[in-house]
Amino acid sequence: MRDFRKFVLCLVLTFGLPWLLMVIIPVLKYQHLEPVPYDKAVDGMDGYYPPAGIQHRGKIVYVREGCVQCHSQMIRPAQLAMDAWHRGWGADQSPRPESPIRANTMRDYLGEKVAMLGLQRVGPDLANAGYRFENRMQVHMQLYAPRADADWSVMPAYRHLYTVQKMQGPKSDLALPLMGRFAPKKGYEVVPKAEAEALVDYILSLKKDWPIPGETARLAAAAEAAKAAEAPTP
Ligand code: HEC
Repeated sequence: MRDFRKFVLCLVLTFGLPWLLMVIIPVLKYQHLEPVPYDKAVDGMDGYYPPAGIQHRGKIVYVREGCVQCHSQMIRPAQLAMDAWHRGWGADQSPRPESPIRANTMRDYLGEKVAMLGLQRVGPDLANAGYRFENRMQVHMQLYAPRADADWSVMPAYRHLYTVQKMQGPKSDLALPLMGRFAPKKGYEVVPKAEAEALVDYILSLKKDWPIPGETARLAAAAEAAKAAEAPTP
């Protein structure tokens, strides 16, 4: 080590520069983000973007159970002709929606202390999971017995979030409709614990595709214009 000062300088630069660029500057730039109001005349809707909708109690369970290991909550911008996000990942669940679902923005995560961007995409992206279930029971079934629906699923079963209890009288309304090899012993039923209910609330609250104020009208106008251009002139 001939030049100690150079060494320290390089060390500071190696760690300090990424820290400055990736942590300090974004924090300074975005820490004052606030929800923005919709303009009824322009957007056709009232309220704020984003609405305060995330269920934080369930989010704690989501973090604790490590769902981020396999699930992301971030729709990428469409780039390199990748249009994977055309598929039913948003409010429009049809296999080929008319327009691609929009990429997530910084503001979509407003009000969340930590954004659950996820580590890997082993399972489907959950940014808009709230649109994909018709009722709570479908989510409970996914959590208790992922393989009941998809035999090939690698998602672990979160059985510890549920209680197997002896049936007393008629079946509980909360009991999971488990069949075949997933069913509990005769005379028993599986009901969710409070944390499973909270987690389901959280999953169902995941809707990160709220229209960006001012954008809705612009996009609608652009779509109209494109349609008009396509139509054969009489
Ligand atoms: C080992 C990876 C892994 C972990 C950990 C994991 N999942 Fe999954 N998950 C998957 C895979 C793979 C699928 C797709 C197959 C299926 O539907 O079972 C999936 C599917 C889902 C679905 C259905 C999504 C859809 O679009 O239909 C939900 C909801 C879900 N997981 C929630 C969770 C929650 C909540 C946790 C944490 C308690 C979790 N997952 C943990 C791998 C994982």
